Amino acid sequence: MGFWSPKYGFESCPPSQSLEVIETVSVRAIVLAAGKGTRMRSTAPKVLNEVAGRPIISWVVDAVRTAGVADLTVVVGHGAEAVSEVLPAGARSVVQEKQRGTGHAAQVATAAMGDLTGDVVLIVPGDSPLFRSETFAALLSAHAANDAACTVLTTRMPDPAGYGRVVREDGEVARIVEERDADAAARAIDEVAVSTYAFDGEALVAALGRLTAENDQGEFYLTDAVGLVGGLGMVAGFEIADHAEALGVNSHDQLATVEAAMRARINRGWMTAGVRMVDPDRVYVDASVTLEAGATIYPGVHLSGASRVAAGAVVGPDTFVIDSTIGRSARVWYSVVRGSEVGEYAEVGPYASLRPGTVLGAGTKAGTFVEVKASTIGRGSKVPHLSYIGDATIGEDSNIGAGTITCNYDGFRKHHTTIGSRVFIGSDTMLVAPVEIGDDAITGAGSVITRDVSPGALAVERSPQQEIPGYAERRARKADSEGE
Ligand code: UD1
Ligand code: CA
Repeated sequence: MGFWSPKYGFESCPPSQSLEVIETVSVRAIVLAAGKGTRMRSTAPKVLNEVAGRPIISWVVDAVRTAGVADLTVVVGHGAEAVSEVLPAGARSVVQEKQRGTGHAAQVATAAMGDLTGDVVLIVPGDSPLFRSETFAALLSAHAANDAACTVLTTRMPDPAGYGRVVREDGEVARIVEERDADAAARAIDEVAVSTYAFDGEALVAALGRLTAENDQGEFYLTDAVGLVGGLGMVAGFEIADHAEALGVNSHDQLATVEAAMRARINRGWMTAGVRMVDPDRVYVDASVTLEAGATIYPGVHLSGASRVAAGAVVGPDTFVIDSTIGRSARVWYSVVRGSEVGEYAEVGPYASLRPGTVLGAGTKAGTFVEVKASTIGRGSKVPHLSYIGDATIGEDSNIGAGTITCNYDGFRKHHTTIGSRVFIGSDTMLVAPVEIGDDAITGAGSVITRDVSPGALAVERSPQQEIPGYAERRARKADSEGE
């Protein structure tokens, strides 16, 4: 039985057919990731932009590995060090000092890979994170099944602008023409090449050796290798139906499109796995997040980092959950939850901020306009309204009145507040830390508590109420006489 995961889709392994291919010939992959991404207008390397919380390059490398290809050479250049850092152990990175085109990048890679005789080389672009491992595996199967020296992955784009066009002669792939070098007839072709190829090793090396930079950009184009390999053997096309898989990221516009497609894929996966999404177009779940069947996610929810939402929990609307766990049947709405644990049946929000180190026990409440930081709130205890709880420990079944503040900071250091079980903290209590409130104790509303309170005691700190009879009338009379 297959299982679903956001990284790998429904199957953890590629189809068995492709595994056979990989067992009989050695398949080695090249990932092209040296480009600057000029069109992003950013100093950061393009392939490090994140899609659903993971760098683009990590999606690509993962898909290649899941397709069963372990031998991986990544061509890095722009931001080489930063890109190499996110690569998995065992991946070889080679530096393309000057980015002289995709063909040049492939030359740099093959030069570092040693003898490629008898090998199949899978080449994929580092900027296209939507490719699924199944697609790479299917390309390799097709390549093994045909007698071609090169199999080009193609698709039909509704808007092929910017992509290399696949020129066929008598149905066979003859060459690829880049848009900027294409005439009107070639531009009208909607079958495009998407920088993904399976090459026989020797044919690849030979074709790369013949590349010239005679084109509009003066670069060495890998696409030209397809035309050049023709003299060495057949070129086959392998067309995929889902053109969205081949979308690359060259601009922020395309990054947003790709991100939306990835998000839709992730959300579909979770819904199939039993998660309810009230409006999936407005739910943002990073690849690193785990959801249990039976969870409900409302619109405007962003789940990221090492977060987990348990069965029966209801999250949103309009909530951020970062590196946090939401327990069974908990409810979190209109809130920001970071580095926190929300226990089962707990209630958070509306408008709560849980900061790192917060642990809410089962059945607790952090309600409206409540901020909690580095604090543990025990089973059944409630902080319903307008409070700040920082660096505190609260026992079980205690109630913290509206407007209560743990004054944890003296201007130099943070101090701890300890509140026992079954404590009743009156509204607007200031708990000046370090301070300890014993079990079953009570504080009077409006008190500034600076000393420990014994178990079962009432602590009140406020001046006695005075009453001046007839004061309103006297005041009115005074105003009248002043007016005369
Ligand atoms: C390339 C293809 C085009 C295809 C399109 C989408 C060429 C000449 N064109 O165009 O046919 O339709 O991708 O898949 O191949 N890179 C390097 N070193 C370089 C230049 C690029 O490593 O010197 C890397 C980039 O980091 C990127 C990939 O190669 O990951 C593709 O380069 P990019 O500049 O995005 O090519 P496109 O213009 O999109
Ligand atoms: Ca591209």
